[in-house]
Amino acid sequence: MAELEFTPVDMRLDDPSTFDGIAVQGVHKSFGPKVVLEGCDLLIDKGETLVIIGRSGQGKSVLLKNIVRLLEPDQGEIWIEGHPVTQLRRRPLMELRKNFGMLFQGAALFDSMTIAENVGLILTEHTNWPLERIRARACECLELVGLVGTEDKLPSALSGGMKKRAGLARAIVMEPQYILYDEPTTGLDPITGDAINDLIIKLQQELSVTSIVVTHDMPSAYKVADRMAMLNDGRIIFHGSVDEVRNADHTAVRQFIEGRADGPLGVF
Ligand SMILES: Nc1ncnc2c1ncn2[C@@H]1O[C@H](COP(=O)(O)OP(=O)(O)OP(=O)(O)O)[C@@H](O)[C@H]1O
Ligand SMILES: [Mg+2]
Repeated sequence: MAELEFTPVDMRLDDPSTFDGIAVQGVHKSFGPKVVLEGCDLLIDKGETLVIIGRSGQGKSVLLKNIVRLLEPDQGEIWIEGHPVTQLRRRPLMELRKNFGMLFQGAALFDSMTIAENVGLILTEHTNWPLERIRARACECLELVGLVGTEDKLPSALSGGMKKRAGLARAIVMEPQYILYDEPTTGLDPITGDAINDLIIKLQQELSVTSIVVTHDMPSAYKVADRMAMLNDGRIIFHGSVDEVRNADHTAVRQFIEGRADGPLGVF
């Protein structure tokens, strides 16, 4: 069945400079002929946890990377607390990125560095702390994600789920105000996954972190989200509270949350 077009949610702001969260406004991103984001708008309120759902290959990871300009948007604007991220030069962009922790979909650890070195690396780059203090902070974060005892191991000695948790420890080491989680529970057993859910909630409640969580794991999405948004065909086609998603009569949202192959989204 051919995919239907869904009406994007209207989240354009007249003046994004007055918005104190993250405003994605009309972002386009293509790779050669492949159009991924096509005028994507999204608003993330300060202090909320927004979960992004959507089928594989729809551009969720690309969207996260555009927000911090690890990928450059082709067109459109990103605003963070009234700062026009898309206009920042290198140095102010680097300053802004210090407020962001990012858990990459693949844990993206350096193979030749120990886990504690990987977690502490960003502190080595951005602070003049002595090595013992950096290691102590790295160990503290590893403890938070249940990885005591792995400090001096190389990433190759860890399971996939442990690497993911090490990536999470690295994301929080600078005490960021914003955390972008790309599939934080994928590949984890349900119990460890739920411990990560609890950690996401704890960081939001105790440190007032603003989070964007990309996930396919619906129990996790329902547990951590304040609001949810669905990305499809390069735009946000649904945006609402957890209850609004659960009870949505939007055909694409229903198909996705029920995990059905038949429906307007097709299979491949
Ligand atoms: N650096 C890149 N160069 C070329 N194409 C890319 C690049 N990054 C992503 N893409 C393409 O952009 C599209 C969206 O990729 P993205 O990784 O954002 O999907 P996703 O929604 O995160 O999927 P998944 O749920 O499988 O992680 C895909 O077609 C992918 O091949
Ligand atoms: Mg992805």
